[in-house]
Amino acid sequence: MECRGPLAIARWLLLLLLLLLLPPHSHQGLVLRQIPSTQRIQDPPAMHLGNGPGQEPVSIMTFNLTKITKTSSSFEFRTWDPEGVIFYGDTNPKDDWFVLGLRDGRPEIQLHNHWAQLTVGAGPRLDDGRWHQVEVKILGDSVLLGVDGEEVLRLRQVSGPLVKKSQPIMRIALGGLLFPVSSLRLPLVPALDACLRQDNWLDQQAQTSVSAPTSLRSCAIESQPGIFFPPGTHAEFSLQDIPQPHAEPWAFSLELEIQLAAGSGHLLALGTPENPSWLSLHLQNQKVVLSSGSGPGLDLSLVLGLPLQLKLAVSSVVLSQGPKKEILALPPVGLGSLLNLWVHPQGRLFLGALPGETSSASFCLDSLWAQDQRLDMDRALSRSQDVWTHSCPQSSGNGTGTTH
Ligand SMILES: *[C@@H]1O[C@H](CO)[C@@H](O)[C@H](O)[C@H]1NC(C)=O
Ligand SMILES: *[C@@H]1O[C@H](CO)[C@@H](O)[C@H](O)[C@H]1NC(C)=O
Repeated sequence: MECRGPLAIARWLLLLLLLLLLPPHSHQGLVLRQIPSTQRIQDPPAMHLGNGPGQEPVSIMTFNLTKITKTSSSFEFRTWDPEGVIFYGDTNPKDDWFVLGLRDGRPEIQLHNHWAQLTVGAGPRLDDGRWHQVEVKILGDSVLLGVDGEEVLRLRQVSGPLVKKSQPIMRIALGGLLFPVSSLRLPLVPALDACLRQDNWLDQQAQTSVSAPTSLRSCAIESQPGIFFPPGTHAEFSLQDIPQPHAEPWAFSLELEIQLAAGSGHLLALGTPENPSWLSLHLQNQKVVLSSGSGPGLDLSLVLGLPLQLKLAVSSVVLSQGPKKEILALPPVGLGSLLNLWVHPQGRLFLGALPGETSSASFCLDSLWAQDQRLDMDRALSRSQDVWTHSCPQSSGNGTGTTH
């Protein structure tokens, strides 16, 4: 694994740089030239549904209900993210709305109108990174949900005639809500790291407006599950929001598995916004370097695809990967401060670039664990808009990559 490392990184970095340097609309051109299929050339590019930490929809459409003759919508959808909003529709955000989302990877409908108020999950898991075809249809008083050509849910007595709605405008928002998250019947974190294509919303002839998609990411890159930090991006968690250290004896562990990495800069750090690196792990010359404050660090050579563990105890930090293990003794002064981070109101776990740091490091983690519990980037205190919360560019490490 180690010997394929540098080559894989170089190839992956090249692809990544190409894709990051091109504006989104040219990604398609890049890919289309490689796919000699006439059909694909006419398709509009897939749209990414995530719109950063603000959780705003990426696009909003309006329809004049008095003109609607087709009452179904369909689209293809691809994600590794188990939770979020696919689309929201309403004629009124107070008492006539509909949400299709994912929870634990399966479709969930929440709706609230004059006829019914309900929350229901149905159908297979869709968070497997493959394209799935989804259809939502209003038929008389029923709402039908279809997945990959099969009806997975039929809700009866939940709808009335569309034309009789008091407000004749229907809004559809993609990848977000048009009301506060707290108005959902059952709380859901709306951000969804997903791609959408071949979408067809209600009746094109009744569409009165559509906002230009504001997604920041291209869907032209094949993805794999993970968390991806492009160069210069960051995320931070409040230490009070993540699993707490073990008390007696004091101990705290972090585990991450690096799938891809390039450049140099911080991977993670524990500290406060004013003093962000009481303890830090950074990437330098294909090595991971652990250091405490400005003291001397220790390093391990970077091995992709093997879990890297950090075990913090009262007087030392153990960095290990497979059979390799290094121990960093903590200076007595530094130690008190490190433990104090957990009672400090601003104690943070930083990922990626530190505040004020110019970092060239980009990396993909298969996941990140604190005290053996997986951290969800959608629940970070803050993060850069372009962090990929549930996917990574696909590794071209074994020659089956996306460039050929
Ligand atoms: C909706 O369409 C009807 C019928 O064409 C028209 O009379 C009405 O003004 C439209 N409403 C809006 C808000 O565009
Ligand atoms: C390479 O990728 C292919 C397809 O994803 C997979 O089936 C195969 O096991 C991989 N080979 C290695 C050596 O990782």
